[in-house]
Amino acid sequence: MTRITVDLGPRSYGIEIGPNLLESLGEKVSEVAPATRCALITDESVGAIYGTSAQESLERAGYRVERIAVGAGETSKRLSVVGAVYDQMAAARLERKSPVIALGGGVVGDLAGFVAATYLRGTPFIQVPTTLLAQVDSSVGGKVGVNLPAGKNLVGAFYQPKLVLCDLDTLQSLPEREYRAGLAEVIKYGIIEDVALFESLEAQTRRLNERSMDYLAPVIRRCCEIKASVAQRDEREGGLRQILNFGHTIGHAIEAVAGYGGVFARRGDLDRHGQSGGPIRKTHGV
Ligand SMILES: NC(=O)c1ccc[n+]([C@@H]2O[C@H](COP(=O)([O-])OP(=O)(O)OC[C@H]3O[C@@H](n4cnc5c(N)ncnc54)[C@H](O)[C@@H]3O)[C@@H](O)[C@H]2O)c1
Repeated sequence: MTRITVDLGPRSYGIEIGPNLLESLGEKVSEVAPATRCALITDESVGAIYGTSAQESLERAGYRVERIAVGAGETSKRLSVVGAVYDQMAAARLERKSPVIALGGGVVGDLAGFVAATYLRGTPFIQVPTTLLAQVDSSVGGKVGVNLPAGKNLVGAFYQPKLVLCDLDTLQSLPEREYRAGLAEVIKYGIIEDVALFESLEAQTRRLNERSMDYLAPVIRRCCEIKASVAQRDEREGGLRQILNFGHTIGHAIEAVAGYGGVFARRGDLDRHGQSGGPIRKTHGV
C-alpha cells in the first residue's frame, strides 16, 4: 500500500492506493470519521460486486450501515436522485458526524460528495473509487455535483473528502470500455505534466492493456500526485486547475457530433437526461 497526502491545511487528506483495501475500509473510516452510523452510497452494478464486503468491513468497525444504491450511469447524477438519497438518510437518522462513503465510479463519487456537502450542512465524506477514471481523477480534488437538464455539472460544491481509498483489485471487474475511458485521463497527465510517464505508457501498452497491477500501481500513484499537486495550488479552479480539462474540449465536440451515443459514447445513455428529453450539453469542464 502506498499513501499520498493532499496538502490543503485543515482540509488535508490521504490517498491510499493498493490491493485488498476494501477489507480494511471500516477501520480506515473510523480513523477519520468515528461515528455510530454511516451511509454507504453505491450504484446497483458496483453494489452487487463490492457492496457486501464494504458493508461487512464497516460493520466490523462498529458502524450501523445505511446502504443506498442508485441506478448505474450518468442519469443518476441529478437532483431528484439527491432528494431520494437525503430522504433515505434522514429516515435512517444519520447525523452530522455520520460519514458518507462513496463506493463506485465518478458518478457515485460526484453524487455522494454533493450529498455529503449539503446533508445537515456537511458530513464527513470518504471516496472509494472503483473505476480507473475515478481513481486517477474524480475522487481527488473535491469537486462534487450533479447535472441539470441545462447542462452537465451545473450544480455542485468544492468539498474535500477525509480519505480516498483506491483498491486496485476493483479494477479487474471494470468493463473494457470503462477501463479505456480511464486510460484517456492517464494519458492526459502524461501530456500536461510528465513526459516520462507518457513515454512509459507508449512503451508498455501490453502491460497497460493486461491491467498488470505491478505496472498500474505506480502509474495511478503518479496521476494522483499530479492531480493533488494541481488541486493544492488551485483548489477552487481559479486558473491553473483548468489544465486538468486538457483534451476535454475536443472530446466534448466528438460527443456532440456523435449525438451522445453511437460509436464514440461510453454508454448508450451517456449525457442524456430524462427530464428535458434532450441531451445534456457539456458546457463546463468536469
Ligand atoms: N469530480 C471530478 O473532478 C470529476 C472528474 C472527472 C469526471 N467526473 C465525473 O465522473 C463521471 C464519470 O465517471 P466514471 O467514468 O467513473 O463513470 P461511472 O461512475 O458511470 O462508472 C462507469 C460504469 O462502470 C461501472 N463500474 C464502476 N466500477 C466498476 C467496477 N469496479 N467493476 C465493474 N463495473 C464498475 C458503473 O456501474 C458504471 O456502469 C462523470 O459524471 C464526470 O462528470 C468528475
